[in-house]
Amino acid sequence: MKFNRRNFLRSASVLATCSLVEIDHFAAAQQLRNDGNEVAEDDEHYWQNVRLLFPLKKDWVYLNNGTMGPSPYPVIDAVHKGMMEGDNLGRYGGWESTAAKLAAFVGADADEIALTHNVTDGINIGCWGVPLKKGDEVILTTHEHVGNAFPWLSRQRLHGIVLKTFTPAATADETLNRINSLITKRTRVIAVPHIPCTQGQILPVKEICALARDKNIHSIIDGAHGPGMLLLDLHNMGCDTYASCTHKWMLGPKGTGFMYVRKDFQDTLQTYFVGGGSDNAQWDMACHPVKMGEYASSAHRYYGGTQSLGLYRGVDAAIDFIETIGMTNIHKRIKGLGHYTQQRLLEFGEKIDMLTPTEERSRCAVNGFRIKGVDNAKFYQDCMSQAVQIRTVAENGLNSLRVSTHIYNNKEEVDKLIELIKKAV
Ligand SMILES: Cc1ncc(COP(=O)(O)O)c(C=O)c1O
Repeated sequence: MKFNRRNFLRSASVLATCSLVEIDHFAAAQQLRNDGNEVAEDDEHYWQNVRLLFPLKKDWVYLNNGTMGPSPYPVIDAVHKGMMEGDNLGRYGGWESTAAKLAAFVGADADEIALTHNVTDGINIGCWGVPLKKGDEVILTTHEHVGNAFPWLSRQRLHGIVLKTFTPAATADETLNRINSLITKRTRVIAVPHIPCTQGQILPVKEICALARDKNIHSIIDGAHGPGMLLLDLHNMGCDTYASCTHKWMLGPKGTGFMYVRKDFQDTLQTYFVGGGSDNAQWDMACHPVKMGEYASSAHRYYGGTQSLGLYRGVDAAIDFIETIGMTNIHKRIKGLGHYTQQRLLEFGEKIDMLTPTEERSRCAVNGFRIKGVDNAKFYQDCMSQAVQIRTVAENGLNSLRVSTHIYNNKEEVDKLIELIKKAV
């Protein structure tokens, strides 16, 4: 079906005034469909219509997708419908099919995807499951989110592993050099973020994984910001594991995520958190001696128990929503907005420290910066009082600010932030 702006505009303006129940989400989603055609990165009509599909308040400039991605109506609606689907008949199960849908979205196989509740779940599966002895070394950045720092710090305390850190550099090549120079005979794991939360630069993760593989080192990647921002092909990336969520850039329900574990790595990565679904149904507590059976032959071995049908129906809907618009179109739009933001910030010259690299391959939708001579925490509060939400960055003593833009944002919103910075400087 061809994208019809006039029809869509009509239903979008209806959407803006109707209650959730009255909105015909299906029709609106149909209007977004464009047969995979290219949408121009600066087609403001199209992107404004997309914005109308989000419950975000009209005058609230939300520039903090890096923390939480608000869901569009079709996702919220699918959560509701999914709950009804389960609760009408007391149905159990039904969420397993989401693993296959996620796998197709990130370039993996269905049996390599474990369903989780957030990035932290996946990082813990990777961190605690990789066999390490006292003195074994793990390489991380100095820019870790607590979710990728604390599990490894805990293993340092409990198991005596040694953590070595580097600071991400302004270029991908220099970042690789820094990692290379930390590798010793005791290095067992490189556990870095694809995109650190601090300043949103894209690390050269494919090269990092290749380097790791060459030296028999495991690559355990924190992929919090990858899916929904970048086009992913995890097989091509070559990582051993990739922990992510569907509640940031994928715009899915909060409390949902996934963990990719490369098929050949599943016999190495031990599983500690097990229950219903992580077994192969061969255990028997009534025979003597009791029988263990085996772990499930897929990444299901890494999670067990009851999941929420509603939430995972919401994840399905988030993937449908993204694919309706087109992941390539989304990536181009948010990279364009990120570039616009960076250029506008660079106009301040010496008055601002631009922390995110300007290198093409290392930047996308997130920009980190510091306003010189200004209390950045106070500036953040000033922004909030003017209905502009960004994020402060306390990690690594950076004391800086972060702005992240998604498809529901536009240049005028970025300009509003720029005006506030002008006043502050
Ligand atoms: C880089 C990074 N890693 C891990 C996390 C933790 O994510 P979650 O809260 O989904 O566990 C975040 C959250 O912002 C993050 O930015």
